[in-house]
Amino acid sequence: MKKKILVVFGTRPEAIKMAPVVKACKARPELEVKVCVTAQHRQMLDQVMEIFGLKADFDLNVMAPNQTLADVTCKVLKGMEEVFAEWKPDMILVQGDTTTVMAAALAAFYHKIAIGHVEAGLRTGNLYSPWPEEANRLIAGCLANQHYAPTPRSRDNLLKENKDPATVFVTGNTVIDALHEAVKIMDGDAALKARLATQFPFLDPAKRLVLVTGHRRENFGEGFIHICNAIKRVASRPDVQVVYPMHMNPNVRKPVNEILGGLANVNLIEPLDYLSFLYMMRQSYLIMTDSGGVQEEAPSLGKPVIVMRDTTERPEAVDAGTVILAGTETESMASAAERLLDDAAFYDKMARAVNPYGDGLAARRIAELVATGTMQS
Ligand code: UD1
Ligand code: UDP
Repeated sequence: MKKKILVVFGTRPEAIKMAPVVKACKARPELEVKVCVTAQHRQMLDQVMEIFGLKADFDLNVMAPNQTLADVTCKVLKGMEEVFAEWKPDMILVQGDTTTVMAAALAAFYHKIAIGHVEAGLRTGNLYSPWPEEANRLIAGCLANQHYAPTPRSRDNLLKENKDPATVFVTGNTVIDALHEAVKIMDGDAALKARLATQFPFLDPAKRLVLVTGHRRENFGEGFIHICNAIKRVASRPDVQVVYPMHMNPNVRKPVNEILGGLANVNLIEPLDYLSFLYMMRQSYLIMTDSGGVQEEAPSLGKPVIVMRDTTERPEAVDAGTVILAGTETESMASAAERLLDDAAFYDKMARAVNPYGDGLAARRIAELVATGTMQS
């Protein structure tokens, strides 16, 4: 009998990072695979589903405008229970550190269903940064039966917490698999490539593109005002154009629109689908972000990243020299960008650094572990 695997995800980055896992698990003859989306995100999730051709077998449809953490937790916990009643999986797979991950893992634990945790073991050691993600990832880690750590460092974090070494595996990060797949889709389709090139008529080839994203809850309020002021300062340079695809969270949109709306050098746009965002990353000179996924992808494209946060659970990228952890003061973020814009040698060194997050085969390793309990490659 085939082992029944339920892959669960809810937000944009989980969908991007789980798309390769769904594909790799479906390729294993030992596994029967179904997909459950919580739809903690709706539009931003659906964009990814379409690009990667993913279809949900179960859809909890939990998103509500400006939802609270408790709203999402309750709906996911209860919704998963209904899915388990309908199709009892032998194992669920969750990814990362969102509320979906934490609540789905807890629901599986209550039903004594095994849990595989993708992107396990990232830690800042500070429960309030990233908040609530540090706690979400810890909780999922407590409950998981298999841990797929992206790097040796994340494996070591898990071993320090006394996880059984026989359950912890270094697989690489599946974001690299997704990126390779997206590059293949884009580069293999000349019409699509041409369409992407005409999609952004506002891009000025005479200026250097600074691509911005931001959405972290611990930055809401003061933090976001500092971020926007830093971007405003960078955008005041005549040689720079800022493009900012805004996250749909209203707590992000309000300060961004208030401080950056209407500035000549700043284009505030809707969230881009993954291929369009990838195109935009490729066009960019540098990226300013607080996003986890973006700082993992950008080094593969040779783009320096300024991380607008005070802590990071991704120190590998800082050590590899592909990102700068700039803090959340206007001065520190703006001056990091100015140095990259003005110091060519510094820029070149960052742009040439090697991506520490994997080789694009992470999903295949995870599928093998799910199917056989061991990893050959
Ligand atoms: C969530 C995750 C965060 C992850 C991020 C990725 C938690 C606590 N947070 O943050 O870890 O890095 O996703 O983007 O799990 N909205 C829409 N449409 C969408 C998506 C969001 O309208 O497609 C709006 C809604 O008003 C929603 C709000 O954004 O209520 C917040 O969404 P939520 O998932 O609660 O938090 P994020 O800030 O997106
Ligand atoms: N991304 C996207 N469109 C956008 C902005 C980001 O497709 O307009 C992708 C990006 O390439 C990365 C992921 O979304 O793979 C990151 O998601 P987000 O920043 O929302 O979450 P985080 O990674 O911080 O959890």
